[in-house]
Amino acid sequence: MEALALERKAEQQKELKERIAQLKKERNAIILAHYYQRDEIQEVADFRGDSFLLAQKAASTDADVIVFCGVHFMGESAKILAPNKTVLIPDERAGCPMADMVNVDGLRALKQKHPNAKVVAYINTSADVKSETDICCTSANAIKVINSVDSDEIIWVPDKNLGDYVSKFTDKKMIIWEGYCNTHDMLTVKDVEEMKAQYPNAQFVVHPECRPEVVKLGDFVGSTTAIIKYCKESDCQEFIVGTEDGTGYQLRLDSPNKTFHFATKYLVCPNMKVNNLKKVVKCLETNQPQIYVPPQVADKARASLERMLQVK
Ligand code: 13P
Ligand code: SF4
Repeated sequence: MEALALERKAEQQKELKERIAQLKKERNAIILAHYYQRDEIQEVADFRGDSFLLAQKAASTDADVIVFCGVHFMGESAKILAPNKTVLIPDERAGCPMADMVNVDGLRALKQKHPNAKVVAYINTSADVKSETDICCTSANAIKVINSVDSDEIIWVPDKNLGDYVSKFTDKKMIIWEGYCNTHDMLTVKDVEEMKAQYPNAQFVVHPECRPEVVKLGDFVGSTTAIIKYCKESDCQEFIVGTEDGTGYQLRLDSPNKTFHFATKYLVCPNMKVNNLKKVVKCLETNQPQIYVPPQVADKARASLERMLQVK
């Protein structure tokens, strides 16, 4: 971008950020942003985190309004955990293709086939699907959650890659749904091998939503938060990163002197990126779009989310 255009963009962002600060005060609002959001959104967030930390924060905030900068299922989880608060999402089109890969009818049919199994749902599911499950988990606590469940047979929805990873840490029989994250699943062994050849001193850190053969190449495997923490605490100075590129914001903030190479330029979730500062301003001004979850669905889904939050 030309210098003048860059200057203009910075000026616009400054104005939008000032307006957001003013609206936040007026509305007693908090902005929660997932690590995969655009940098400028993470900059205005009161709290940044992965799915687990954001769910915990939504459950404990005293703000009246939560602006959830992430994807739709995350906003729904916030509304379920904080039913008396207004939950706004800057753009309703911010969905998650993986969450859409499982629906209630399909899950009910699987439950009928395996009546003794308990259902563990990755938080990347709709409220309707959560209401049909025993307990939720995120990538940060999946292994602990699976091992906390009082059954030797688990139906796992919807991420087959995370399911495969978790199955290596439990003796339980896992019946795994065939869903996947379009973004993480795109990363191949060839991509990683090429990067390793180019940066031989770098460690490869990878999210378990990637394919099993890619995860196998990891020097470290973990959730987004675990990756950020590992890179900060490691003696290594250079990393090849196998997760969504928005994570770079927190990685660079926490480890300004280290070098991060994203494993491909395609590690970008287009759904996460539909939110922008203008839409944050608009949702705070208009109080729309709001997340709504029917109470009978929310009550059942809440039980599943709260069970997850209680797992230590
Ligand atoms: P975490 O937030 O649990 O790291 O999951 C990654 C993800 O893809 C969220 O949509
Ligand atoms: Fe869904 Fe993957 Fe995007 Fe996360 S990164 S919101 S799992 S598509």
